[in-house]
Amino acid sequence: MTADTTATERVVIIGGSSGMGLALARELVGTGAEVVIAGRSAARLATASATLTGGPGAVHTRQLDITRETEVEALFTDLGRIDHAVVTAADVRGMYAPIRSFEPSAARALVDTKLFGPALVASYADVGPGGSLVLTSGIAAYRPGPGSAMVAAVNGGVASLAYALALELAPTRVNVISPGWVDTPIWESIGGGDPVQRQRDMAARLPVGRIGRPEDIAAAILALMRNPFVTGTVLHADGGHRLV
Ligand SMILES: NC(=O)c1ccc[n+]([C@@H]2O[C@H](COP(=O)([O-])OP(=O)(O)OC[C@H]3O[C@@H](n4cnc5c(N)ncnc54)[C@H](OP(=O)(O)O)[C@@H]3O)[C@@H](O)[C@H]2O)c1
Repeated sequence: MTADTTATERVVIIGGSSGMGLALARELVGTGAEVVIAGRSAARLATASATLTGGPGAVHTRQLDITRETEVEALFTDLGRIDHAVVTAADVRGMYAPIRSFEPSAARALVDTKLFGPALVASYADVGPGGSLVLTSGIAAYRPGPGSAMVAAVNGGVASLAYALALELAPTRVNVISPGWVDTPIWESIGGGDPVQRQRDMAARLPVGRIGRPEDIAAAILALMRNPFVTGTVLHADGGHRLV
């Protein structure tokens, strides 16, 4: 939402070349917004942007590693004022494993993408009146299982980061989306058995009878972005996973 309601809404999605971030980009472009999708892989960005149909100037790509301060600073310097920044980026490789197989470098990549990166975004983004930041936590923080300790800790940290930022950056609103299991390419890097079978088993346990689709999460993120009375909030879009 912008102060001038005739202006085009400008939204940056770091992690927008895949999964939930890409679904959000698709939704936003459909409403006439100008969207910048950012991620590390140029090829992935190109493939993703080719699937987004918007008017001229509606979709931009930016090759960027959210863990690198100079790249995050340059992005926001180039963009100037924006309406919303959304972070869905995460590097979870090797992170679903027993703590006795702890891999420090993988743990650092997870912390860097999900906690340090969003802190850089909060530091450099120039968000206009009525705008917001949306960060991404996840079900592991609220319904942890064996082998997910670091993911649980980092996802919990994302919520704490957002609570503090909602005060510090006010009136910019800062919210968190916490997805349950959602069918996205991230499952190719998660490991821990056949993803299709694991998702099927989870679907049978969930009150809603299925796992999430990227569009489910995009709709929830949009709700956080649009509601001017919501800040410092974690929105759980998990099909009831926390209850089972
Ligand atoms: N899918 C689930 O079941 C699930 C459940 C709970 C929580 N979550 C959380 O939801 C969020 C989105 O997940 P998703 O399923 O949509 O994942 P995804 O499909 O794998 O997308 C992740 C995106 O982040 C980008 N990315 C990764 N590392 C980056 C970095 N260092 N700098 C910039 N961009 C980076 C990726 O592009 P590049 O690789 O090209 O950089 C990609 O665009 C993550 O925080 C994840 O932890 C997912």
